[in-house]
Amino acid sequence: MSSRLTVEQVPVDVVLPLRSAVLRNGGPAGTPGDDDPATLHLAARRHDGAVVGVVRLAAAPCPWRPDARAPWQLRGMATDPAVRGTGAGRALVEAGLALVADRGADLVWCNARETAVGFYERMGFTVLTGPFDVEPIGPHLGMLKDLGARTGPVGGRRSS
Ligand SMILES: CC(C)(COP(=O)(O)OP(=O)(O)OC[C@H]1O[C@@H](n2cnc3c(N)ncnc32)[C@H](O)[C@@H]1OP(=O)(O)O)[C@@H](O)C(=O)NCCC(=O)NCCS
Repeated sequence: MSSRLTVEQVPVDVVLPLRSAVLRNGGPAGTPGDDDPATLHLAARRHDGAVVGVVRLAAAPCPWRPDARAPWQLRGMATDPAVRGTGAGRALVEAGLALVADRGADLVWCNARETAVGFYERMGFTVLTGPFDVEPIGPHLGMLKDLGARTGPVGGRRSS
């Protein structure tokens, strides 16, 4: 992680402005399940407290691994263009993976924008699908990262 950043779990209202600006072109950025108490929202903050990166993780069945014991979905991944390439995205994903592993997750999956596939590959995710279109955003690919067999509490299964 960049030494100038801290990553912490935050209420959903903290992540919405950057999620809206980066992923929704300034539009409404709420996603079903955001208010579920089991949903994790993480923010990366600069030393002055400004939020420069956000991500969300929630337990959700994996479309490509229906047999997964405790799958979680990563979504709402965004960093401020001013800090890209400095480790904010990595810090968020690593913190998120550690948190869900503690909750018993056996894999994390995402629908990755085609332009972000290389980022997720750097984070250890593997492409599972060909490109598919998500209107109005554009092409996405299904990706996942196995966290390995673990014992411990399971975060539950639900759609979100
Ligand atoms: C994708 C995104 C979250 C990456 O955030 P970031 O803060 O730049 O990521 P980091 O600086 O931590 O980069 C981590 C590594 O991934 C690489 N990387 C970052 N973005 C990449 C990309 N789009 N393609 C390929 N590699 C990328 C970095 O070079 C770095 O490599 P390293 O391991 O050699 O150091 C950011 O570019 C973003 O918000 N994009 C717009 C929104 C978006 O597409 N979100 C994902 C939706 S599925």
